[in-house]
Amino acid sequence: MNDRVLAVVLAAGESTRMKSSKSKVLHTIGNRPMISHVIAALENTGVQDVALVVGRDAGPVIAAAGSGRLDVVAFEQTERLGTGHAVLAARDAISKGYDQIIIAYGDAPLIEAGPLIEALDKVRAGYDAVVIGFRTDRPTGYGRLLEQGGELVAIREEKDATAEERKTTSCNSGLMALNGARALALLGKITNNNVKGEYYLTDVIEVLRAQGGRATTVEAPADTVAGCNNRAELAELEAIWQRRRRHEMMVSGVTMIAPETVFLSFDTAIAPDVTIEPNVIFGPGVKVEAGAVIHAFSHLEGAHVSSGANVGPFARLRPGANLHANAKVGNFVEIKKAEIGEGAKVSHLTYIGDARIGANANIGAGTVTCNYDGFNKFETVIGADSFVGSNTLLVAPVTIGEGALTATGSVITEDVPDGAAAFGRARQVNKDGLGLKIMARNKALKEARKKK
Ligand code: UD1
Ligand code: CA
Repeated sequence: MNDRVLAVVLAAGESTRMKSSKSKVLHTIGNRPMISHVIAALENTGVQDVALVVGRDAGPVIAAAGSGRLDVVAFEQTERLGTGHAVLAARDAISKGYDQIIIAYGDAPLIEAGPLIEALDKVRAGYDAVVIGFRTDRPTGYGRLLEQGGELVAIREEKDATAEERKTTSCNSGLMALNGARALALLGKITNNNVKGEYYLTDVIEVLRAQGGRATTVEAPADTVAGCNNRAELAELEAIWQRRRRHEMMVSGVTMIAPETVFLSFDTAIAPDVTIEPNVIFGPGVKVEAGAVIHAFSHLEGAHVSSGANVGPFARLRPGANLHANAKVGNFVEIKKAEIGEGAKVSHLTYIGDARIGANANIGAGTVTCNYDGFNKFETVIGADSFVGSNTLLVAPVTIGEGALTATGSVITEDVPDGAAAFGRARQVNKDGLGLKIMARNKALKEARKKK
């Protein structure tokens, strides 16, 4: 199909009920702004251009919308006079001559391509407007779809509906597809003669019917067209989105023992045969390869976990953490901007930042890369097959050679050559009998205190 399709996305609302310092379409679902989700869904419908109608926070809203593959041209709606008025803010785009126009809302981020494609097909088949509806037993607040014999005859807003019309459970999602050639003429005839005194986009149906045009509907699952007006609804949308993504991942071969406790980001990439234990959080930018295991209570962000690697329980992988195949990062370990070589082990209570650890190195419990002097960051390099003793402080910049060893409790400030053992700690001295004397003195002090 070589049709030209324009999407007009409305994002000029004031977001009053969000009680927020930013536009609601910038609030995130799966760590990505709602507006970016909407544009991403449009990418798969055959849309070529997007006209974005903005008001509040235009700059960041435009940036978030333009972060995907589609080109976005913004139009400002200076006054909020209703959805019909908002669409006409994009008049200059619509008038360029498209075959079909899709209208979508920036605050309905869960939309999927399927119903939109179906609606576009019905416009191609001759309908002037196709509205995407959904069924709900709680229709309050939505426009009702009034249908007769398979045709849509009107959309009635709640406030303008009769008691009889309000009983309709088929509701307007807000999404619609219009015949591109007729769109401008139809939209131009919408008036604000209604209870709210707004220009309702939904009136376009009665306008076109009055001119002998035809409209119909496509039904979408209610949870794919849900909108967001306040933060409680934001959390509901997040829950729906999380459920959907987890399901997709499990069906694609990822094991989740308690999926409802795993939180994903929009770009989380997990290969088949990965096991995710309960209570794991994936921030943005995480990729996990086949056969890796993420144990309970781990937090990952901007990290890459190669196949066969083991993470956690209670591990934290921060941006730039790159675990090579079969590496192990254990409990209470934090990794930031570091290569953990193939088969290397960082098993307990450790901070590794700005470091490169070679294959099969073993990093003892309590090791810290001292990478920061309060102003600058420095790198630590740890060679393959080396053994870093427990509680070693590695004062960067510093290099531990291949096959080298550091003694437990060392403070390593100088490079250690390949194969060497480094002792960076005070030598132990034993004093005969002194232990008993010290304890006797301490006991006496305690008894003297009690008598006072
Ligand atoms: C709208 C529909 C209603 C539908 C419901 C679905 C109309 C008249 N009503 O009602 O039939 O059931 O959505 O959620 O269209 N916006 C602007 N500029 C404006 C007004 C709105 O950009 O001047 C944007 C808003 O930011 C929002 C969208 O348009 O993203 C919908 O506006 P909203 O006021 O929420 O419409 P509803 O009353 O919910
Ligand atoms: Ca709304």
